Amino acid sequence: MLPKEIVTALNNQMNYEFEAAHSYLAMASYFSAHGYHGFANFYMVQAEEERFHAMKFYHFLVSMGERPHFKALTAPNNMHESPLHIAKQSLEQEQAVTRSIYAIMDLATEHKEHATIQFLHWFVDEQVEEEELFRDIIQKLSGISVGGDYFMMMDKEFAERKMH
Ligand code: FEO
Repeated sequence: MLPKEIVTALNNQMNYEFEAAHSYLAMASYFSAHGYHGFANFYMVQAEEERFHAMKFYHFLVSMGERPHFKALTAPNNMHESPLHIAKQSLEQEQAVTRSIYAIMDLATEHKEHATIQFLHWFVDEQVEEEELFRDIIQKLSGISVGGDYFMMMDKEFAERKMH
C-alpha cells in the first residue's frame, strides 16, 4: 500500500500532465490560426505525449490499488505572442515538470517506496529529452524570421511528427 503522501503527489502529477496537454493545445492553436500547420501538428503531438504521460500515472495508481482523482484544469495561456515566445514557454513548462518529478522522486526515496522510484525513472529520462527538444527549437528560432525560408522548412519538418 502506498503512503498517502505519495498517492497525493502521483495524483497531482497525473492532473499536471493533463494540464500540460491543455497548454500545448493552446500553443497549437496559435500556429493553426497563423496557418503554420506543421508547427500546429508538432504541438498537437506534444499534447498527445502529455496525455500519454498522464495515463502512465493513472495506470500506475490503479496497479497500486489506488483510485485516480481528477481535478479542474487551470486555463492555459491563450494569448501567445510569437513562435519563439511559445518555445520559451514550453521549455519553462518542461523545467517545472522536471522539478515536480524530482520532488516526487525525493518523497519516494524518503519513504523507500521502490515501486514508485522504479516507475519514476522513465520520467526522469523523458524529461532530459523534453528539455533538450525545446532548447533545440529555441536555438533554431532565435534570429530567424517567422515565415522565412528556414522557418517554413521547420514547419514542413514538424508536419511529419508523429506520436512515438
Ligand atoms: Fe510530461 Fe512534457 O512532460
